[in-house]
Amino acid sequence: MNRLALACLLSSASLLTAADESPVTFHRDIAPIIYANCTGCHRPGESGPFPLTNYAEVSRRALTIERVVSDRYMPPWHANPEVTRFLDVRRLEPEEITLIERWVAAGKPEGDPDSAPPYPAFTEGWQLGEPDLVLTMKDAYEVPAEGRDIYRNFVLPLELPEDKWVKAVELRPSARSVVHHSLFFLDGAGTARKLDGKDGKPGFSGMTFRMDGGLGGYVPGVTPKKLPGDLARPLPKGSDLILSTHFHPSGKAEREQTTVGIYFADAPPSKKLEELQLPPGFGRSAGIDIPPGEKNYRIEDSFTLPVDVEAHFVSGHAHYLCTTMRMSATLPGGEERILLDIPDWDMDWQDTYYFAEPVVLPAGTVVRSVITYDNSTENPNNPTTPPVRVKWGRESTDEMGSITLSGVALDEGDAARLQLSTRSNRARLFAQLGKELRQGGVLERLPAIVKNLDANGDGLLQESELPQRLRGPLLQRLDENGDKTLDSSEIEDLKTWLETLKKQNGA
Ligand code: HEC
Repeated sequence: MNRLALACLLSSASLLTAADESPVTFHRDIAPIIYANCTGCHRPGESGPFPLTNYAEVSRRALTIERVVSDRYMPPWHANPEVTRFLDVRRLEPEEITLIERWVAAGKPEGDPDSAPPYPAFTEGWQLGEPDLVLTMKDAYEVPAEGRDIYRNFVLPLELPEDKWVKAVELRPSARSVVHHSLFFLDGAGTARKLDGKDGKPGFSGMTFRMDGGLGGYVPGVTPKKLPGDLARPLPKGSDLILSTHFHPSGKAEREQTTVGIYFADAPPSKKLEELQLPPGFGRSAGIDIPPGEKNYRIEDSFTLPVDVEAHFVSGHAHYLCTTMRMSATLPGGEERILLDIPDWDMDWQDTYYFAEPVVLPAGTVVRSVITYDNSTENPNNPTTPPVRVKWGRESTDEMGSITLSGVALDEGDAARLQLSTRSNRARLFAQLGKELRQGGVLERLPAIVKNLDANGDGLLQESELPQRLRGPLLQRLDENGDKTLDSSEIEDLKTWLETLKKQNGA
């Protein structure tokens, strides 16, 4: 080693020691970490519950901050980055956590404001820039301070004169604290418009409208992102956008008037995006049924890809009891790749995870998802004490569980086969519905059930007489003339339909 190099080495070594011993100050050491990893959400108008934009705001909460960064609760990121490489990972380096701990231990010194990095130029408002189309709910919906979760659909007429392709939808709630999630559906038949406001309040409840596709959704913690490459979702002209929103009362009455920004693609995509959900029906097909006290309940599902697939992103969905999620791919040669590993599921952070590079999965790859649940008192997220039996359902105290992998057929010629196979995967749900019917003895008891439901004894089943949970699916399927009443011939259709389901599940 020559003398110059040696001198450099010595001086940088002494610099390092000097830095190590000098007190950690906010402006020089902590502000860069906070600005880069926290302030994006923790500033006015964004999802963080309080701002972290300057010395006073950060030092006031220093102890909590130290706790949440040390146990990696913040910044929120639940996919294991060591087994899968994702884009835009939110994660502090161990040295950054140590710096925060040392700063707090030293008594939170402020230091010299001149040593602070410039405050970042954050994008205000729309995170993806000015949308091509902005829609706002006509009227605000009142969410009470307390009570059960509310599921409500809101119609946003699009009035598009031509077919469009969508790169991204960004949703800006007016009352973030109560919007648990919102899914974006399309209705090309105007069925939702007819239901809108019927009960005197904005929107309508139940899944009774015709769904002609979807544009993804908003869940807490999701960062809006445009679909990669030239991928885009179809938005046919004449469709209305339906926001299917799940509210969770927050203890304070709120008014939600959502604004949605839509970003269009300039041209149709070269390939069609397909979704493979395992197990399908958000886990319904797995027949989730978790005994109280059960600490390690597990559902599992797998699917063999019929063609070469290029996977782009992955996301999971479950409720409070879920503890871990994992999706793996076993390639035809036997090699295993982990597509998603969430070792500590948190229902509040249901991100969509984009692969750093598209993952190519050859035909014959077995994609498998495994999801675990803890329904014991040891699970701090268990919403019910003492624990109760929990089955699949839409309330947040019911359970769901599935992992969805999104991608395209690598070869355009295989697109139709891939579409067919993802469709037949979804259809496996009907086998479970058949099983549920058989176990419940529903078919045999149908006449008695109908009689029971028919509160006013007119031989018809009005919407108000149907159980809330069944209103949507039954009317959507059976109410031929759209009068929101099942007459005797429609009830007969119900019987035939139940018989088919039962038979499909027969042997
Ligand atoms: C993606 C958005 C986002 C980022 C990035 C983020 N936060 Fe948060 N933070 C939130 C939200 C939303 C909440 C409230 C919900 C919750 O506690 O999960 C929160 C809650 C908190 C809390 C309160 C926790 C408690 O137990 O009361 C603290 C403290 C906090 N964040 C600090 C930080 C720090 C420090 C960083 C950066 C290292 C950071 N956050 C990064 C969105 C974010």
